[in-house]
Amino acid sequence: MSKILLNIDGKEVTAQEGMTVLEAAQSAGIFIPTLCHHEKLEPFGACRICMVEAESHGRTKLVVSCVYPAEEGLVVRTRSEKIDRIRRTILELLMAHAPDSEQLKELAAEYGADADRFEKEGSFCIHCGLCVRYCAEIKKKNAVGFVDRGTRKEISFVPEIALKECENCKECFPLCPTSYLQAAWVLVKALASDGS
Ligand code: SF4
Ligand code: FES
Repeated sequence: MSKILLNIDGKEVTAQEGMTVLEAAQSAGIFIPTLCHHEKLEPFGACRICMVEAESHGRTKLVVSCVYPAEEGLVVRTRSEKIDRIRRTILELLMAHAPDSEQLKELAAEYGADADRFEKEGSFCIHCGLCVRYCAEIKKKNAVGFVDRGTRKEISFVPEIALKECENCKECFPLCPTSYLQAAWVLVKALASDGS
């Protein structure tokens, strides 16, 4: 695999061809916030918190670093007024759904996000898909999936699979940036013990 040279936040970074900008930054110890990324999972590009500015051939654009390929000569900025503003708004939107998430609170403090900017819609799940993808891609069980679409989209355990598989696994639980996955699991078990 050939090497490529790019510049991230003023630092020369050598990356392997095929790496994303996020992977290149991480390999150089440069932090970019993520909410839907996991190094063992296929890139998803859903939360957009990892957006950075990328300059190539004199043109600068905003790119989603967890899916954007590292290119020879690319100049990347992981923080700027514009990026911080975007991250702040993303966090404010997500905090309308999951105001108690520690991960979101930490990022909100860093980017000055106002947790109360948008009206609360306590759905608690932020649709990062980590639980769904981890179960499908790593465990190959599909015990949890997305149901519905758009604003009605939510994750749901498949009781027939989950009640057999999840008790002894729960590997996706610590990946959830909110409390929703745990709550959904408690509900599945409660319904099962009710015989409902
Ligand atoms: S339940 Fe948690 S891990 Fe699963 S999609 Fe929602 S926020 Fe992400
Ligand atoms: S971490 Fe890149 S879009 Fe979520």
